[in-house]
Amino acid sequence: IAHGKVERAPAWWAGAREQLLQHAQAGTPRYIYDLATVRERARGLLSVSAIDRCFYAIKANPNAAVLHALANEGFGLECVSQAELDHVFAVLPELSPQRVLFTPSFAPRREYEAAFARGVTVTLDNVEALQRWPEVFRGRTIWLRLDLGHGEGHHEKVKTGGVAAKFGLPVARFDAFLTEARKLGIRISGLHAHLGSGIDDPRHWREVYAHLVGLADNVGTIETVDIGGGLPIPYTPDAQHFDLVAWREGLDEIKAAYPRYGLVIEPGRYLVAEAGVLLLGVTQVVEKDGVRRVGCDAGMNALMRPAMYEAYHGIHNLSRLTDPAMVAFDVVGPICESGDVLGRSRLLPAATSEGDVLLVADAGAYGMAMANTYNLRALPAEDVL
Ligand code: LLP
Repeated sequence: IAHGKVERAPAWWAGAREQLLQHAQAGTPRYIYDLATVRERARGLLSVSAIDRCFYAIKANPNAAVLHALANEGFGLECVSQAELDHVFAVLPELSPQRVLFTPSFAPRREYEAAFARGVTVTLDNVEALQRWPEVFRGRTIWLRLDLGHGEGHHEKVKTGGVAAKFGLPVARFDAFLTEARKLGIRISGLHAHLGSGIDDPRHWREVYAHLVGLADNVGTIETVDIGGGLPIPYTPDAQHFDLVAWREGLDEIKAAYPRYGLVIEPGRYLVAEAGVLLLGVTQVVEKDGVRRVGCDAGMNALMRPAMYEAYHGIHNLSRLTDPAMVAFDVVGPICESGDVLGRSRLLPAATSEGDVLLVADAGAYGMAMANTYNLRALPAEDVL
């Protein structure tokens, strides 16, 4: 990999067309994951020497095969609910609790109790929980999630810092938290910050590390500094690949300057987004008032991201991949809302018709994980290659 402009390799799915079409015959909508791509992304991150431990944010894609692949590569797993914890230990019964991080938001008391009972690392982000449930936290070792005052990311809805966000203890309340924690004999062994998802600037993570290290030095018990996830992937055709080299150099530099703490990251999207595609069947092709629409057997129910964040996903007609006569279509689903659009004005073969298989690219993160049964439509199926 070189600096700056990084050439994008052709997506894996272009070489797997026949296989994908065969999978589609078993029924659509269907998510397909390429585990080789997951492993490749995982190894890229694990090779960064400044990073001491990586936790995969399983909310991005909790598929069992994906969890197996990442755990085998050496990733720990980050969970945000008791159900995610239960899922992880059901899929990987041998997994050491030391490789699991619990980072919930506004969770009920019983979920903290369950996490402590399992022996996983628990992250807390407010004083009120300590005051309300002192017996849950007394004498425990925990990590503290901080709000560094600003959020980052590809959309307002995924920024997780600043006054508008519900996450994290404001730095201004840091001392108050330490006082309260000391009263309960709590040891804070880690500081955590995750400012959002889909952050383009490779310098972001080194800045978070520097900020947290400055605070950690005052505590005396901190061993680990977790700088969150948020690594982006290039969704649009003209987007560049994340500058992993600049990212790594930034982390190497800041870690060399402050080597005292274990550096932890917890990415989700980066590991799995490009490894997944959503296969859809074309149901109807309709022209109305000059707009051509391709209708599919699933839409926002299978993939929420376009409706929820105006997110872009590449869409291709897998049945007619080499067809040169392209026209613009809106690609829509069967859901009874006008927001049920997967892509607007997308160039697809003019001959696109009922029974064709469309491929929605880069759907491996927050795809199946956010799918729902709105209109009582069935959830998509899932397969791995
Ligand atoms: N750590 C914490 C505490 C998080 O809340 C998240 C994601 C991650 C790590 C992983 O972030 P990632 O590396 O995947 O950016 N549904 C949205 C993304 C929501 C992210 C939620 N938190 C989307 O489809 O863009």
